[in-house]
Amino acid sequence: MADTRPTVWVSQPLIDAAIAPLRDRVQLRSTDTVTAWSPDQIAEQLASADGAIITLNERIGAAQVADAAQLQVIANVGVGYNNLDVDALSAAGILASNTPDVLTGTTADLGFALLMATARRITESERWLREGQWQQWSFQTMLGADIHGSTLGILGMGRIGQGIARRGAHGFGMKVLYHNRSQLPAATEAEVGATYVDLDTLLAQSDHLLLVLPYTPASHHLIDAVALAKMKPSATLVNIARGGLVDEIALADALANGRLAAAGLDVYEGEPKVRPELLALRNVVLTPHIGSASLATRTAMVQLAVDNLVAGLGLDGGLSRMPSAINADAAMAARVTLGKKTGKR
Ligand code: GLV
Repeated sequence: MADTRPTVWVSQPLIDAAIAPLRDRVQLRSTDTVTAWSPDQIAEQLASADGAIITLNERIGAAQVADAAQLQVIANVGVGYNNLDVDALSAAGILASNTPDVLTGTTADLGFALLMATARRITESERWLREGQWQQWSFQTMLGADIHGSTLGILGMGRIGQGIARRGAHGFGMKVLYHNRSQLPAATEAEVGATYVDLDTLLAQSDHLLLVLPYTPASHHLIDAVALAKMKPSATLVNIARGGLVDEIALADALANGRLAAAGLDVYEGEPKVRPELLALRNVVLTPHIGSASLATRTAMVQLAVDNLVAGLGLDGGLSRMPSAINADAAMAARVTLGKKTGKR
């Protein structure tokens, strides 16, 4: 008898235990190998899928869904979704979702870890020690910048930004300034311990500036040579959002020429490639996009993606809504126009 269960493409190895509940409900097409899918291969996979669970590695736009007539849901395992052309998906009646909330604390932790490693020169010290350069204890070795009592700037004040603000204000006694598209309600500002300022003030006053804003065409290279010149030469810059927020050539230049003290980067414009100009610098801490990478959080992210997929495909008999759909209204409206079945959201 023909297998009538929907086909679901899982683009990368994820967390098996969290995928397992899907096994008897769908025809799963998955891989054990981390794969750099080409745009055409992604289109090919989607062309015969009803749903997909994908990661930030897969860029999906109009061309990738052009032949995906039966595709109903794309569940992105990640909070940022600049890898998706949401307008193109909506126009094709394809529901998309992300994984907010479950990764907030873990990602805020990583932001703080990177800030501390960068300001206190942790990885630089370790490299120096391992190279056998520590001949004698010296008063002047690896002098860094303080975290406690300093001014923390946060650019982008969503859930992760707020988590970082709390850690800074309540954990380390920092003065916390932030800039965001919209100012938080006064009660939230008081709870997280942060004060709203304009972007120039944030750049000028921060001892440590953390980037946690979404990457969009409007925020492309927001931190460029001009912005960097407004920062204190003693400042630390940390980026845990997306590489494209920063002009990396301008950043490397500022770091090499004493116009910025140090940078901590978890994300890169051309990742997984990291610019040689950055790799050559001693005053940069580099991590391979591990913001949400704790076992518990990565498991929760896959579970949330699975929940979105199950609801989006109506596998639960329409009992639940997608917990974190990105484009439910637009996609459902397009389905009506396209004469596609409306399914569940
Ligand atoms: C990771 O960068 C994410 O957006 O979840």
